[in-house]
Amino acid sequence: MNNKVRDQWNHAVGSWVEFVRTGKDYYREYMNGPSLKRMIGNINGKKVLDIACGEGYFSRHYARTGAKVVGVDFSAEMIKAAEEEEKRNPLDIEYHVADVADLSFIDSESFDLAFSFMALMDIADYESAISEAYRVLKGGGRFVFLITHPYFEQRWHDGKLIVGWETRVLDDGSREFPYLWVEDYFTRHDAVVDWPKRVGRRPYAFTTTSYHRTLADYVNTLSEKGFVVTRMDEPMPTCEGIVVHPSLVRHTRLPQSIAIESVKLVSTIPKPPSTFQP
Ligand SMILES: C[S@@+](CC[C@H](N)C(=O)[O-])C[C@H]1O[C@@H](n2cnc3c(N)ncnc32)[C@H](O)[C@@H]1O
Repeated sequence: MNNKVRDQWNHAVGSWVEFVRTGKDYYREYMNGPSLKRMIGNINGKKVLDIACGEGYFSRHYARTGAKVVGVDFSAEMIKAAEEEEKRNPLDIEYHVADVADLSFIDSESFDLAFSFMALMDIADYESAISEAYRVLKGGGRFVFLITHPYFEQRWHDGKLIVGWETRVLDDGSREFPYLWVEDYFTRHDAVVDWPKRVGRRPYAFTTTSYHRTLADYVNTLSEKGFVVTRMDEPMPTCEGIVVHPSLVRHTRLPQSIAIESVKLVSTIPKPPSTFQP
């Protein structure tokens, strides 16, 4: 458990709740959320685990669409906010405060689907988190996650911006983003993520921590744990999103995130009877 990172998310909660619940997280509203929903599809009646659920945005979404949802997050403040909302508008969601690298309080093979929205790159021990997702899924169950794109997400390393958008301010005050520069991809590192105060969007500034890894790190970990990758999506903004937030148009050229679907393999070779003598 990384206490510093957990404390950062506990501190962020007031600003985060406002940002997410008032539709001001427009990447979620107009690009990344639609991608997750397309990939997950209809899960009415399914048992679903929301890994690093935060204040419960997608737990609520899937509970409303008929799934039985369990949400887990290591920030007690995030879970408190989720539970307060559950009290106001009950959706039969069960929340737990826990590090998703250790879900030993959850039975093996008990979920149809596990998903994680914009969190795996913030989880220090992502390999154990993927291993736990595998353990709690039933055979044939899907694990779907969406993360910032390891190639293209703006990124700081040791106080220096090493992946960033070239930005030009035009005469009318609008901004143009001609290209993205990338200084280094292969060095794995912790990255400070600053979420500045934005009037009407985030009431106060906060800082969190992400862990830069390569795309191969994620895909090979899935494979090592027993998952088979079945689909990927590099989301583009919706047309409505571009109209409402024109800066999103740059993501019709380069993605900001990636969604990956994988399936827990089940052996189709029948087990020999217990009396079997070779
Ligand atoms: C960017 S937020 C996304 C939250 C949520 N999925 C959403 O859609 O808003 C990342 C979340 O990951 C959680 N987190 C980071 N590391 C974790 C860990 N090891 N175990 C459980 N939660 C973790 C944080 O507390 C935070 O709520």
